[in-house]
Amino acid sequence: MSPTRKDFLNLSATGALGMGLGARPVAGHEAAGPVHGTTGTSSPERQEAPRRLDVLVLGGTGFIGPFQVRSALERGHSVTLFNRGSGRAMFPYLETIVGDRNGDYEGLRGRRWDVVIDNATNNTRWMELATEALQDATDQYVFVSSRSAYADVSRVPMTSEAPTWTFETADVPRDQERLPYGLGKAEMERIAQRALPGRATILRPGLIIGPGDETDRFTYWPVRIDRGGEILAPGNGTDPVQIIDVRDFTDFTVKLAEDATTGIFNCVGPRTPRPFAELLYGIRAVTTTEASFTWVPQDFLARFDVMPYREMPAWRPPTNGNEGFARFDLTPEVEAGLTFRSLADTATATLEYHYARPLERREAFRSGLSADREREVLAAWHAASG
Ligand SMILES: NC(=O)c1ccc[n+]([C@@H]2O[C@H](COP(=O)([O-])OP(=O)(O)OC[C@H]3O[C@@H](n4cnc5c(N)ncnc54)[C@H](OP(=O)(O)O)[C@@H]3O)[C@@H](O)[C@H]2O)c1
Repeated sequence: MSPTRKDFLNLSATGALGMGLGARPVAGHEAAGPVHGTTGTSSPERQEAPRRLDVLVLGGTGFIGPFQVRSALERGHSVTLFNRGSGRAMFPYLETIVGDRNGDYEGLRGRRWDVVIDNATNNTRWMELATEALQDATDQYVFVSSRSAYADVSRVPMTSEAPTWTFETADVPRDQERLPYGLGKAEMERIAQRALPGRATILRPGLIIGPGDETDRFTYWPVRIDRGGEILAPGNGTDPVQIIDVRDFTDFTVKLAEDATTGIFNCVGPRTPRPFAELLYGIRAVTTTEASFTWVPQDFLARFDVMPYREMPAWRPPTNGNEGFARFDLTPEVEAGLTFRSLADTATATLEYHYARPLERREAFRSGLSADREREVLAAWHAASG
């Protein structure tokens, strides 16, 4: 067993991993118990990989990074982090190379890794500098891009061949400093592919959900349903949804590294798009509070400025060019090893995570409708629909 896996399992067994991730809880969740990913298939009992990889994670201490570290360690790989220093506090038993994506890559000089995982959000300069520093230092470069890289999500089914944004299609001047998110991701993909031809793995996740997600873009639903009562639900329940549990995403990332699989992969689930009603009823099945759903059509919601996605998280009705948004054909991804844990697992782990957050954070939701707004729209709907 590799020293890092041994350390990781020892820390897990003694509870020192806290949230199941590092020796200290993620910032802002100091009150949290052992909740992160404690349910489901992603557990320290996962089998060790036949071949040990040296993995460099650029970042690694935000939301997704810690799960990448966990997925890699569980499989017996060795992990090095590169960030401005947060890795030392979160993963004291791992090597952190301190540097800065804006220009300090000195610590990487003369080193080699089998795989690099790059979590940079939207900065083409960061990608240029990192690939320059690492193109001769790795066999595989995995970039966490996004479904937002697609210029057109009207195709049904969606596949990775759909066109991504260019400066021309996005109508953005080439010298513009801050690029829109989707164009930034598409350009970063191209930079990685140019710098490491045949060695780049591009991942295009949709909404990444589960324990640790600080955006509340999925958490809203389990928490709202757990509160009970009459719940405003969007559309008629048939709109498809495809999102991904962070643990499925990072297990897939590590699988692609183990198999040295390059190419472009969409990362959403489940394989067959789930109707929105199934999502909400599936979440309700893991709660015990009395809760009912009142489905309100999109045009009525629009009159009250209840916007898809922002106020009704995870919901994007398949109209106005969004027909393929949640209708991905995931055949290549499943063949490459993408798996999906149950919605019950995701919902339960998300609730555990939420209830372990400090009270003030639990009361300051970052997505979804406030209780007052929900009551107001429901009252208007009942008045209008008799
Ligand atoms: N959440 C979603 O639904 C979703 C969907 C699609 C795609 N994505 C993508 O998922 C990726 C994952 O993001 P994450 O925040 O979870 O990643 P992460 O790797 O867990 O966290 C971000 C890391 O960046 C490091 N960092 C920040 N500024 C830095 C700098 N100047 N130099 C060096 N390191 C720096 C931070 O550490 P220090 O502060 O110590 O430097 C931290 O470790 C992003 O690319 C995002 O676009 C997310």
